[in-house]
Amino acid sequence: MTAYETLFAGYLDSSGIDFILVGDSAGMVFAGHDTTIPVTMEEMIYHSRSVRRSRFRGPAGGGLALYELSGECGGRSPQCRKAGGEEGGAEAVKIEGGERVLPQVKACVEAGIPVMGHLGMTPQSVNQFGGFRTRGKRSEEAEQLKKDAVALQEAGAFSIVLEKIPAELAGEVTEMLDIPTIGIGAGNNTDGQILVTQDMLGMYEKFKPRFVRRYAELAAEIKSAVRSYADDVKHGRFPDEKESY
Ligand code: KIV
Repeated sequence: MTAYETLFAGYLDSSGIDFILVGDSAGMVFAGHDTTIPVTMEEMIYHSRSVRRSRFRGPAGGGLALYELSGECGGRSPQCRKAGGEEGGAEAVKIEGGERVLPQVKACVEAGIPVMGHLGMTPQSVNQFGGFRTRGKRSEEAEQLKKDAVALQEAGAFSIVLEKIPAELAGEVTEMLDIPTIGIGAGNNTDGQILVTQDMLGMYEKFKPRFVRRYAELAAEIKSAVRSYADDVKHGRFPDEKESY
């Protein structure tokens, strides 16, 4: 699951989550942008450090905090190193894209930084795709995605996120690869799943993709709690004697 700061990272840690992705979805969920494109390396390092402070360890005692790189990585390994450990404190990085980002993937792997790939509907390329539409429905797109997946594996990626692609294609890619696939909107044939935490908790209200299942409706809970507090203050019911010194 995703986290951008220490409070949620702590909740995820004590709920037995295998890995935390410090995703650049922070740009939309946390910072109010319409896409993830404006998110900077500096902002990602801030979020990554904040998650690290939760001391996330994961169920196996060696939890993985992933930091998402933007194009700024540019294949310069010191930048990757910065993200991977020295500054961000993450144990791995995730990079969106296939064959076109192989130099960046190889640079990170050679610098000793584990890389997770990300294929399908990759949010940093929405302007190129013309929106957040499902990828891999057309046969050329599906063929390119398979080539990209194999190329990422060969370049040393340890896992690949498959986002918003047909379940059947996700199954074929999963079968083809030795490394695990992690799906988001890619059906049930991948090795693992990821969702944006605020989506599955019903906190992000701007839109709800079909692939999100809401396990709670926290936006409604929060608003109701805030209304009750404001009402109590206005009517002199808060604070009471026990809450005063
Ligand atoms: O940034 C992010 O949170 C992601 C996940 C949705 C996979 O890339």
